[in-house]
Amino acid sequence: ENNLTPTLMPQNIEALSGSCVNIPCSFTLGSGYESFLTASCKGIWRKGWTGVQVFDSSLTGTGLNTIQGNLTGNMQQKECTTILNDLTSYLNDYFSFRIECRVSLEYASFLLFFTPSENPSKPTLSPATVNVMEGTSVSLICSAAAPCPSLPPTLTWTPTLSDSVEDLQVTPNRVITSILNFTASHVHHGEKISCTALYKRQAGKSDKSSKTDLTVAVLCKLIHPCPSGSVVGAAL
Ligand SMILES: *[C@@H]1O[C@H](CO)[C@@H](O)[C@H](O)[C@H]1NC(C)=O
Ligand SMILES: *[C@@H]1O[C@H](CO)[C@@H](O)[C@H](O)[C@H]1NC(C)=O
Repeated sequence: ENNLTPTLMPQNIEALSGSCVNIPCSFTLGSGYESFLTASCKGIWRKGWTGVQVFDSSLTGTGLNTIQGNLTGNMQQKECTTILNDLTSYLNDYFSFRIECRVSLEYASFLLFFTPSENPSKPTLSPATVNVMEGTSVSLICSAAAPCPSLPPTLTWTPTLSDSVEDLQVTPNRVITSILNFTASHVHHGEKISCTALYKRQAGKSDKSSKTDLTVAVLCKLIHPCPSGSVVGAAL
């Protein structure tokens, strides 16, 4: 029995082909096994049911691994976080991780389903619909997956509507966010607002982008004459 148990690792990891993925990983050890964890331990990622080895942390930077990567976690602190680079559909599989130490071979296999896709998933807009009275302050939040820490997507709003755009960095759950604030006016009624996520990729691969949009509905107050074509809301 290996006595090694993974923690904090999502079972499904979404990633973009031609880019990298950061796989958050840590583990616990059964009591009495901690002394096996030395600086000489190496982490190995294997692919598929047959367990083909694709990455060995002791070969980092040598070019000898099938998948180039970097085990950035401190294994002596039971972290096995790994970055895998220049993903291809070859990796569209499930993965297991094992730890090999010099003295005694202690290992754990745990499963990770992994799907590098050809196109990035669409960003999400929150709220998903905007249906407001004119004069209302609207705060739109666009969030996009950022699986590769060194190449997060850039988010852009079309049209810009205001100068009040705030970009938030990649959070631990690998999401990047942009907030667009504007004051709703009747001129915005029927306007389509888009958030585009542009992903740069590795090894000279072309950029990829994905887009989500919504159409703004602004109700016009009766307090002044509404422009023709606008939608009349309740009198205030
Ligand atoms: C691996 O990551 C560490 C820090 O996380 C960095 O110092 C090192 O240069 C990286 N190695 C390679 C080959 O990318
Ligand atoms: C946008 O609006 C939110 C909520 O009203 C506020 O917390 C945030 O500071 C605003 N951001 C900018 C850049 O004005």
